[in-house]
Amino acid sequence: MKTILSVRNLFFSYVTHSLGSFGRRIEKPVLHDINMEIAAGEIYGLVGESGCGKTTLGRCILGLAGYSGEIFIDGLKQGRGADRKEMAKRVQAVFQDPSASLNPAWKTGWLLEEPLRINKTGSAAERRKRVDEVLELVGLDPSYKGRRTHELSVGQKQRICIACALMLRPRLIIADEAVSSLDVSVGAQVLNLFRELHQNLGLSMLFISHNLNIVSYLCHRIAVMKDGRIVEQGETGEICRTPRHPYTRMLLEASGMMP
Ligand SMILES: Nc1ncnc2c1ncn2[C@@H]1O[C@H](COP(=O)(O)OP(=O)(O)O)[C@@H](O)[C@H]1O
Ligand SMILES: [Mg+2]
Repeated sequence: MKTILSVRNLFFSYVTHSLGSFGRRIEKPVLHDINMEIAAGEIYGLVGESGCGKTTLGRCILGLAGYSGEIFIDGLKQGRGADRKEMAKRVQAVFQDPSASLNPAWKTGWLLEEPLRINKTGSAAERRKRVDEVLELVGLDPSYKGRRTHELSVGQKQRICIACALMLRPRLIIADEAVSSLDVSVGAQVLNLFRELHQNLGLSMLFISHNLNIVSYLCHRIAVMKDGRIVEQGETGEICRTPRHPYTRMLLEASGMMP
């Protein structure tokens, strides 16, 4: 099976300084020796409590944070010197707060076309056609491209964010707490949208959440993170049936999923 994401021996620390920028350099280790692989067409879950380092790992994969170790996305090495435009065609992200991700000044059609314009992909007519196509993929009719984001519900906004992420046909989507700010029924609809997109497009996904119920519903395999380390990873069913690490057992218990 083809590998879409490969993370090898990744370490990451935040650097701060005591007394603002004057004092002692303080290194705060966040990620310790992370190794993970996501196969083509796989939904991979990353679960762990708030502050354990999930978002930071996502940022490293997106090339937004300097790290030591290696990250390959569909064979291309991420990091300093990586071709940003090539990377944008390989990996895209959806975040927790759709309102913060969408510029309220523009109509959604313009926002959706933006990745295509930046990458100089297609003619104006082809770009508009792609917008309609992607809107349909996320369950919105073409009239939505004439709306501004304040005219949308939070669930519709998140669908637009997902559509933006799909515009360049990426191989990998990172969804970081992408349903966590939605209420239960809207969250469930968006979760099912991710599942449909996976089925229809064969999309690979890194699905990040603090919620084990959600992750185990959607993901083929999961990694459990605690204090910046992956303490256990494997097939979802196997981990839920026979958890090995005490922290995984605790998460299962807290989620009412202990076998
Ligand atoms: N810009 C930053 N500077 C310093 N520390 C940070 C910064 N962003 C996050 N952290 C710290 O890194 C750790 C991991 O954060 P994060 O990756 O956001 O966790 P999660 O997504 O699992 O909730 C936390 O201890 C957090 O306080
Ligand atoms: Mg986070």
